[in-house]
Amino acid sequence: MPAAGTDDGGLRRVDVALGERAYPVLIGPGARHRLARVLADIGARKVAVVTARPEEWLPPTGLETLVVHAEDGESGKSLARVEEWCRTFAAWGLSRADAVVSCGGGTTTDAVGLTAALYHRGIPVVHLPTSLLAQVDASVGGKTAVNLPEGKNLVGAYWQPRAVLCDTDYLTTLPARERVNGYGEIARCHFIGAGDLRRLPLEEQIAASVARKASVVAADERDDGLRHILNYGHTLGHALERATDFRLRHGEAVAIGTVFAGRLAGALGRIGPGRVAEHEEVVAHYGLPTALPPGIPVATLVALMRLDKKATTSLAFVLDGPRGAELVRDIPQRTVAETLDAMPRAVAEGP
Ligand code: GLY
Repeated sequence: MPAAGTDDGGLRRVDVALGERAYPVLIGPGARHRLARVLADIGARKVAVVTARPEEWLPPTGLETLVVHAEDGESGKSLARVEEWCRTFAAWGLSRADAVVSCGGGTTTDAVGLTAALYHRGIPVVHLPTSLLAQVDASVGGKTAVNLPEGKNLVGAYWQPRAVLCDTDYLTTLPARERVNGYGEIARCHFIGAGDLRRLPLEEQIAASVARKASVVAADERDDGLRHILNYGHTLGHALERATDFRLRHGEAVAIGTVFAGRLAGALGRIGPGRVAEHEEVVAHYGLPTALPPGIPVATLVALMRLDKKATTSLAFVLDGPRGAELVRDIPQRTVAETLDAMPRAVAEGP
C-alpha cells in the first residue's frame, strides 16, 4: 500500500499509481495553494473553476480564470447541469489545452469530473474537495457520475483527476453532523486493510484512508474485482439512504451498514464474536450511528438491497473473513433478514 509521504512543502502526499495517468493527492492545511503550481505543471493556458463554495475560498490560479457557481447536493448532479457547464465553457472558449477545477463536496466533484470527462472528449481536471467525505473518498479514484430520475450515479465515466488538493482548512468550517458523516468512510477503512486509525490526528486519518483507496484503485481502476472492497458497508448503506429519502447521510448509512456487515460475517461464520463487536466499537468511536433507524421494515431493506449493482441473481455483500474483506455472493436472503431483525433499532433517525 502506498504510504503517505510528505512533499517539499510539508503536506502529506499520496500517489495514485496509474502509469502515465498517475497523480498526487496532497493533504494538509493550505493544500489549496498548490493549485497554481499544479495548473502550471499541466500546462493549462486558462482555467474554469466550478465552485459550490464562496469565491473567497478559491486559491489563486495564476491563469486567466472563469468562476462558475454551483451548489452541492444530489439535485445538482444532473445531465442538465453538465450540459449547462459545457455550454458555459464553450462560450468562454475553454479548450483541451486548458483545465477545469472543482471546489465543493462529493456531489460537485462527481458532476464536474463527468463534465471534464465529456467536454472536448476529455479535459484535465483538478479537485479541491471541501468535505471530509469528498476528501477521503469521492474526489480520489476517478469515478464521476450524475443521477437520473431512475437512480443515483446511473450515468458516469472513469476520468482520473490530474491532482487532488485536500485542504484541511476547509474542514474547520464543516457543521458537526457533516464532519461526523465523513468519518463513515474512514470507519469502514478499518475493515478493508487500512488498520486502526482511531488514535491518529485527522490529517493522518485522511492520508491513510486515501492511501488505502489509492492502492485499491491502482490495482483495479475499473471495478472488476478488488475495488468492490471500497463498498464495505455500502450495500445496506445505500438501501438505508433510499429508505430514508436521503435524510440519513451517506457516511451515517455506511456506518450502520458496516456494523451490519460485521454481524452478517459473524452469522456466516467468517469472523468471530470479537471481530463482530469491533465493528460496532469502531463505528461508535467516530460518533456514528450503529443502530437501524426506526420504522423501516426489514423486507423493505432486503428489497432495496436486491437492486444493488453487486447483486446479480442473489444478495451479495463485501464481508470480512479469513482472507480479509471480499465480495461474497449467494448469501441466503433468510440469513440477511434474520441478521437485520437482530440489529438494534434507534428511537430516532440520524446520530
Ligand atoms: N467510492 C467507491 C469507489 O470509488 O470505488
